[in-house]
Amino acid sequence: MASSLSSQMSLLALVFLLVLIGNSSAQLSPTFYSKSCPNLMQTVQSAVKSAIAKETRIGASLLRLFFHDCFVNGCDGSILLDDTSSSKGEKNAGPNFKSARGYEVVDKIKAAVEKVCPGVVSCADVLAITARDSVTILGGPSWTVKLGRRDARTASQGAANSSIPPPTSSLSSLTSRYSNLGLSTKDLVALSGAHTIGQARCTTFRARIYNETNIDSSFAQTRQKKCPSTTGSGDDKLAPLDLQSPTAFDNSYFKNLVNNKGLLHSDQVLFSGGSTDSIVRKYSSSQSSFASDFAAAMIRMGDISPLTGSNGEIRKNCRKKN
Ligand code: HEM
Ligand SMILES: *[C@@H]1O[C@H](CO)[C@@H](O)[C@H](O)[C@H]1NC(C)=O
Ligand SMILES: *[C@@H]1O[C@H](CO)[C@@H](O)[C@H](O)[C@H]1NC(C)=O
Repeated sequence: MASSLSSQMSLLALVFLLVLIGNSSAQLSPTFYSKSCPNLMQTVQSAVKSAIAKETRIGASLLRLFFHDCFVNGCDGSILLDDTSSSKGEKNAGPNFKSARGYEVVDKIKAAVEKVCPGVVSCADVLAITARDSVTILGGPSWTVKLGRRDARTASQGAANSSIPPPTSSLSSLTSRYSNLGLSTKDLVALSGAHTIGQARCTTFRARIYNETNIDSSFAQTRQKKCPSTTGSGDDKLAPLDLQSPTAFDNSYFKNLVNNKGLLHSDQVLFSGGSTDSIVRKYSSSQSSFASDFAAAMIRMGDISPLTGSNGEIRKNCRKKN
């Protein structure tokens, strides 16, 4: 009798433990806000549409914000926190300073969401939906965004410095960084296709256009015209990451790579005689396989270490903790 009671107790304890574990790694879900904020999707989409109508590049900038959020301690809205007197955030970290942009637009989108559902939707989720809408509006694929992320109360400049891959990265460094986050080599190649939109500063591609040999020479010459060889006033001059169609989310990024016309070193390493050449070739000849692999990879990137349950908070203003 006593022993059967104690075995019942330990079964109960086990069930409790399992429930606890289940909660602490609570799953994101596409329907997370369907009761608490039924107009969320329309609200975000119309705000993204009007931002892109004002400035086409902003779609690229918003997509990149989500990447830079997710790679630094997970998709937790940490990139959106302003520096405070006591802590340095991610906005002024090396990979973001004078580079990441679109924060004012995120503020606008969040304000529109707060108007319809005050205090309900996290900044991390607003960013996830905004990234998807940007891609779709510019002609790329759509996908169902998983939701339920909560917002970090802190940000780390040091983590942003070390977690976002630099454009000087080798293929092996990129694959190991991605794999540490649960992303495959195929995800790496597909996600890099985001560089089919947007712009880069001279300082990020100078060494490639002046010193590398696996670059189309007329392409290098064209880019050299607006990017002087020495550090200085030309550092911030912009060039499109995709020379063909920098505002269309298509597969021309991969066609460029096959022709040695990748702008960044970290772009061309994906097609440089290594293991990823075959994936690049496939995407360069099949828009639809790129589109579906990109969508799947975005969902996996969005799954990186979310705060859920009672962790974190729902920030009212994306720039500061409540
Ligand atoms: C593979 C590693 C990656 C590296 C090394 C990298 C590096 C860079 C660099 C250096 C720039 C130009 C920044 C500047 O000059 O200010 C840039 C721009 C951009 N990146 Fe990446 N990136 C990577 C992956 C990604 C991923 C995964 C995404 C999104 C899914 C992405 C989206 C973008 C976009 C859209 C832009 C243009 C932003 C704009 O015009 O404002 N990148 N990236
Ligand atoms: C991050 O990098 C920037 C610029 O590269 C540097 O000034 C800053 O001190 C770094 N911060 C930390 C905490 O490592
Ligand atoms: C090209 O390489 C040379 C030799 O390593 C170096 O001195 C020079 O600064 C490099 N130029 C650029 C633009 O990176």
